[in-house]
Amino acid sequence: MKILIIFIIGIHLTAGVIHSHSYIYTGTSGIPGFPEFVSVGLVDGQEVNYYDNNLMEMIPKQEWVKGAVDADFWKRNTQNIIGTQQVFKAGISILKERFNQTGGIHTFQRMFGCELDDETGVTDGYMQDGYDGADFISLDLKSTSYVAPVKEALITKQKWDVADAERRKNYLTQECIYWLKKYVRYGKSSLERKVPPQVSLLQTDPSSPVVCHATGFYPDKVNISWQKDGQDLHEDVDVGETLPNHDGTFQKRAELKVTPDERKKNQFTCVVEHKSGDPIHMILTEKKIRTNSAGTGASRQNHQSSCFKVSLLEVFIESVYNKVWWRTFHSLVLRTKLFIKLLFKPE
Ligand SMILES: *[C@@H]1O[C@H](CO)[C@@H](O)[C@H](O)[C@H]1NC(C)=O
Ligand SMILES: *[C@@H]1O[C@H](CO)[C@@H](O)[C@H](O)[C@H]1NC(C)=O
Repeated sequence: MKILIIFIIGIHLTAGVIHSHSYIYTGTSGIPGFPEFVSVGLVDGQEVNYYDNNLMEMIPKQEWVKGAVDADFWKRNTQNIIGTQQVFKAGISILKERFNQTGGIHTFQRMFGCELDDETGVTDGYMQDGYDGADFISLDLKSTSYVAPVKEALITKQKWDVADAERRKNYLTQECIYWLKKYVRYGKSSLERKVPPQVSLLQTDPSSPVVCHATGFYPDKVNISWQKDGQDLHEDVDVGETLPNHDGTFQKRAELKVTPDERKKNQFTCVVEHKSGDPIHMILTEKKIRTNSAGTGASRQNHQSSCFKVSLLEVFIESVYNKVWWRTFHSLVLRTKLFIKLLFKPE
C-alpha cells in the first residue's frame, strides 16, 4: 500500500519528471445525502474530470483538458462510467452478501492508472480495488493476473483472471499512456506551474497541538517540519498527508505537541520547503497563532457545537479517510475532514 501511495501522490526519487494519470472510483451505500458513485480523473495529481450519479455526466475540471480530448470524449466516457456505476452498485450488494453483512455503510473503491518517466520513457501501471477501506483485489501487471489478499476476493480473482486481466493490462500499458502523453502536452503550462504555499499556525485551544498548515501550493511536492532551537524535531510531531484543494492546489500540515512551558524555554520553528522558492520559516510566537475566535472559552465552545455538529457521516468519513482510499477524494470530504480536525471558523 505504501508503494502505491508514493506512486499516486507523485513523490519520486528519480531524476526525471514522472507524470501520472489515474482514476478513482468510489461507490457507497447507506450514506444519506452522499453520492452513491463518484469518479475523479487525475493528471499529475490534478483533478481533470469528474462524474457523480447526481450529475450523470462526466465534466472537465480544467480549462486545458477541453483542448486535449476529442469531441466525443465526454459523451463516450459518460456512457462508460454509467455502466461502471451500475457494476459498482451491484458489486456492493454482492460483497455485502459475501461478507455476511445486511445493512450499514459500505464503500467500494477502485484506483487505477499509469505513470511515465519523461526522461527514460519507462512506464508502469496499477489497478487496485478496496472494500470498506481495506484492500480487496489488485492486478499484477507482470503476471497479468489478479491478487486476492482476502478469501472473499478469490472468486472474483478466478473470474477476472480469465475475463478481464488481459484487457485491463492493455488499457494500463497502452491507452492510459496514450492519454497521459496527450494530457501532459496540452496541460504543460498548468502542470509545470509553481505556486508558493501560504503558511499559518493554528491552534484550537492552549492545550491542543499547534498546527503548521501550508496550503495553496503547486506542485504537490513539499517538505514540512518543525524545528526546536534550530534542530529538526521528529518526536511529538505528526505530519499529515498532502491533500488536494478544490482549486487544484495542495495542502499539508504538521502538528506539534508542545507544553506552554516548553514553548517559553525554546524556540520552535515550522519550516516549509517548496520548489516555488526559498524555505519558509515560521517562528512560533503567541501572536502568530490563529485560533477559532477571539471570544472566551465558553463562547468558543458554543460556536463549535453549533457549527460543527459532527454527524455520523463525518465521523465515518474521518475514519475511512485515514485509510488512504479516500485520500484523493472530492474536496467536500477534505473540507469536512479539515473542519472537524481543526475546528476552525469557516469564513
Ligand atoms: C454468516 O452468518 C451466518 C449466521 O450468523 C453464519 O451461520 C455463517 O457462518 C456466516 N458466514 C460467513 C461466511 O461468515
Ligand atoms: C525535501 O527533502 C528531501 C530530502 O532532504 C529533498 O531531496 C527534496 O528536494 C525536498 N523537497 C523540496 C520540495 O524541497
